[in-house]
Amino acid sequence: MNSYRDANQRAWDDLVRSQSQFAKVATDEECAQPLLTLDSKGWLPGSVKGLDVLCLAAGGGWQSILYACAGARVTVVDLSAEMLALDESEARRRNLSVTLLQASMDDLSELRDSSFDIVHQPVSTCYVPRIRDVYAEVSRVLRDQGIYISQHKQPTSLQLVDRDNRNRYVIGIPYYHSDPLPAIVDTAYREAGAVEYLHRWEQLVGELCRAGFVIEDLTEPLRGDPKAKPGSFRHRGMYVAPYVRIKARRISERAAGAHPLIWIPDSEASD
Ligand SMILES: C[S@@+](CC[C@H](N)C(=O)[O-])C[C@H]1O[C@@H](n2cnc3c(N)ncnc32)[C@H](O)[C@@H]1O
Repeated sequence: MNSYRDANQRAWDDLVRSQSQFAKVATDEECAQPLLTLDSKGWLPGSVKGLDVLCLAAGGGWQSILYACAGARVTVVDLSAEMLALDESEARRRNLSVTLLQASMDDLSELRDSSFDIVHQPVSTCYVPRIRDVYAEVSRVLRDQGIYISQHKQPTSLQLVDRDNRNRYVIGIPYYHSDPLPAIVDTAYREAGAVEYLHRWEQLVGELCRAGFVIEDLTEPLRGDPKAKPGSFRHRGMYVAPYVRIKARRISERAAGAHPLIWIPDSEASD
């Protein structure tokens, strides 16, 4: 039933062994300015010292090490033992303390309710079929007013399957595709061996609001370069933005009731 977890655990263990660009620990230079490195947009508070931070699906020794350098109490959840081993060895090498938990982002039952001030999740919701399960868990473990920073693959990017002979990118997967995505040759924006799912905008953003969050900011990290060669990672990035980054805040049910997130006029309520 949870075969996506087994497959993705294997895929990410393999990616670590093949030294994937996503399995890179934080450098000394980055550790010298940890908050600036983590947060060029200024979404985090001025200091995270003493705050409880969950680095969700964030193994690999980058986010965890930077938050720990900035003085936060860090927990890392990841499915891949190899990714977590990087956090562990790097924390030991730098004499930092991080708590590691091998678990799936859509089942955080080993973590207590309202136990974190910040949840930081790099690109990873594509590895689970139901994003609302992840949002429900994040909402449960975050304290009231807690910050949830997450990055996701954009649906259009996951729909691309090819490039034609005029260097136009071809959409070959329906927007409403809900099964695991078929394998494609270009792995620039997909990970070899991983089982991935497309989440539509109403799921990426709508489910987040429905899980009790208000969205405070949203950006599309630039991965395009107008001078890039056709077919390259950065050429494709000029045509389709691969990622979206969202800053959301958890609000209590009482506050949500007092200030409804979405107001639907009677005339449109039946749409
Ligand atoms: C793109 S990496 C993110 C971490 C990396 N430090 C970075 O900044 O790019 C995605 C991570 O998601 C993890 N992952 C995949 N499926 C997962 C799941 N169901 N639950 C938790 N982690 C998962 C992978 O093991 C991998 O470490």
